[in-house]
Parts: sequence; structure tokens; C-alpha cells
Amino acid sequence: MSILFTPVRIGSVTVPNRFVRSATHDFMADDEGNVTDANVELYRRLAEGEVGLIITGHAHVQPSGKASPRQTAVFDDRFVEGLARIAEIVHRFPSRVFLQIAHAGRQTKEKLCGCAPVSPSAVYDPVSKVMPRELAAEEIGALIAAFISAGARAKKAGFDGVQVHAAHGYLLSSFLSPHTNRRQDEWGGPVENRARVLVEVLRGVKSACGRDFPVIVKLNSTDFLEGGLVLEDAIRVARIIEGEGIDGIEVSGGMAEAGRGSVWAGLRGEDEEGYFVENAARIKQAVHVPVFGLGGIRTLAVAERIVREGRADLVSLSRPLIRDPFLVKHFRDGLTGKSECISCNKCFNPRGIRCAELTKKR
Ligand SMILES: Cc1cc2nc3c(=O)[nH]c(=O)nc-3n(C[C@H](O)[C@H](O)[C@H](O)COP(=O)(O)O)c2cc1C
Ligand code: SF4
Repeated sequence: MSILFTPVRIGSVTVPNRFVRSATHDFMADDEGNVTDANVELYRRLAEGEVGLIITGHAHVQPSGKASPRQTAVFDDRFVEGLARIAEIVHRFPSRVFLQIAHAGRQTKEKLCGCAPVSPSAVYDPVSKVMPRELAAEEIGALIAAFISAGARAKKAGFDGVQVHAAHGYLLSSFLSPHTNRRQDEWGGPVENRARVLVEVLRGVKSACGRDFPVIVKLNSTDFLEGGLVLEDAIRVARIIEGEGIDGIEVSGGMAEAGRGSVWAGLRGEDEEGYFVENAARIKQAVHVPVFGLGGIRTLAVAERIVREGRADLVSLSRPLIRDPFLVKHFRDGLTGKSECISCNKCFNPRGIRCAELTKKR
């Protein structure tokens, strides 16, 4: 029997299998950030397709944290009703669903977020071509409060948990990174200080939502940047947040500025699958909570080996589930052993994610 189709607990929640839909921004909200029918249909298909745990695309916790057009918002109570539609549709199936809560930090543009992008320190971003404004100490309290309110809204909307986005150079990731966080106060310097915002968010969400409301994190394991966050930092952060009650850690990496982000194109062959899994395995050795492995996992046998060999407890997929939201069901039914996704990255479609390869075939 495949270990991939056995249940696993994430805090108080039982996930029916080991397949996770890794957070995927879908460009399907309306211009205000409200959930649309297209969003609901997307999540219905993923749940019908038997994905064990579905993590939504990143929802911004403050208007200043908007990263992208047609991004789902969670910065105000008015979004709860729409978000509840996602939880409700998923719960018609055995799948569980977590809302990913995020702030873009300096990886946005003024015209998107309506203000000068913010960052722990004023460090120029050559990709967004933004010189961000350094957050004042009082604003950091408001940022933490915004994440906590977002967690409470997720619970109110019926989500089974939240994932705090601390990867890919977004704001919480940029607090963890010594490249973007050069602060001299209690929020910068040693890794314990750089992790303080994340810790405060975790404590706050737990206190607002109850200890048994699962909170997981998507954690950068490396920035791939000279002077940036390295795996040893990430291991240290993982231990710190485990001590604070985190319920699971999804291990990612990359930062646009490094020229090496999180969504690698042109993967060929099984030996290139799971490009962040070795980092996940290192983090898994340091903690006891479930660890999610990801990065280019395409083949059922590769996924099986990752979990069976104890390098991760769950496997996360993004692009293969854009290609085919029913992939997990197809795996289970023995209809296929490999995703047809060719990692071309043409699914980033501002009119709504879709597989360009599939459209071409039709
Ligand atoms: C269209 C698209 C949107 C994404 N949006 C998010 C996001 O909102 N939050 C996040 O943490 N990662 C996001 N990612 C990264 C994925 O979650 C995942 O970590 C990455 O694509 C590697 O997995 P894969 O090879 O299975 O696609 C996105 C990826 C894609 C392709
Ligand atoms: S466009 Fe299709 S084949 Fe290309 S990466 Fe996206 S899902 Fe995979």
C-alpha cells in the first residue's frame, strides 16, 4: 500500500492523504480582492480531485501587501463572506483547506499596493526596481496585528488552518533574510531577532484562534543570495517556531532578486524532481512536526520515495495541479504515474492560471 494515501495529522486536523496543493496565486479574484465564482470552481475541482490538503494562493493581510493583480484579499472583515465560499465548497469533500496569509513587502509596485512598498530595511530590489521604505518600529506592531486578524478571519470563514508565507522574498521572508533585514533594533541582527515577527504572528494567531487551530509556515530554506538566508538559519528558525507551537513546515526557497526563485522551469527527468526536498530533509531532522517537501515533484514513484524514506511527511505540488486538478485521484486510480506538466511556467496567466500546453493541444 502506498504511504501517500495514508492520513496524516497537522496539529488537530487529519489530512486524508499526503498530497498538498502548494499555495498558488490564481489571478481569479476581482479587482478588489473578493473571491469570485472562478475561484470557487478552482477549489471545487482540487477537492473533487482528492488533494488531501489544499493551500490557497497568498491572500494579502494589508493593502500595502498586495503582490499581484486579482489577488485574494483578507485585510478586512468584508472579505470573510467570499472566503467562506472556498471553505464551504472544499468541505463537501474529504479535503482540508488552509488559507495562505501573506504580505508582499518590497516585491510589489506602488501602483499595485497603493503606497511605497515596505521592507525591514531600505534595500533596493533590482527585480521590482523598487527602493522600499523601511518599516518604523510602530508599523511592525500593526503588521503583526494584521496577520493575526487575517488568521482570525480565516477561522471565521471556516478554513481548517492557515499557512503563514515566510518564503520567496516576501515580507516575512525578508525579515528572516540578513540581506534585506539590516535593522539594528530587536527585529534585526541575530536569527532569533529576524524570526521575531514570525514568532509574534504565530503566537498571536494561536492566541486569537485557539491552540488547536493549525498554523503552518512556508519557510525559505535558502535565498540563493550572497549575504542572504542560508539553510543553517532556516533550521534555527524551524526549531524556534516548533518551540512556539507551529503545526507544520513547508520548505521552499529562492528569491527573485537572486535570479533563482521558487518555481524552476525546464525540469527534465526524475533526478531533477524535488529540488527543495533535501533542504526539507535537513529541516525534518531538526524538528518533530510534519514537514512538507516540494519543488518540481512530478512522478508518483518519486513522491512515494520522498515520504517512505522519511525526507518529508507530505509532498506539495503546484503546477501539476494546474495541469490536472484531478492528478491525485488519477494517481490513486492507477491511471497515471506521472504529471504531464513540463515545467514551462506558461501558466502564470494574468487572466487566470491555466495550463498553456493543454490549451495548445485542444
Ligand atoms: C502560478 C503560480 C502561482 C504561485 N503562487 C504562490 C503563492 O501564492 N504562494 C506561494 O507560497 N507559492 C506560490 N507559488 C509557488 C508554488 O507554491 C510552489 O512552491 C512552486 O511552484 C514549486 O512547486 P511545483 O514545481 O510543484 O510547481 C506559485 C507557483 C505558481 C506556478
Ligand atoms: S503551463 Fe502547463 S505544462 Fe507549463 S508549467 Fe504550467 S501547468 Fe506545467
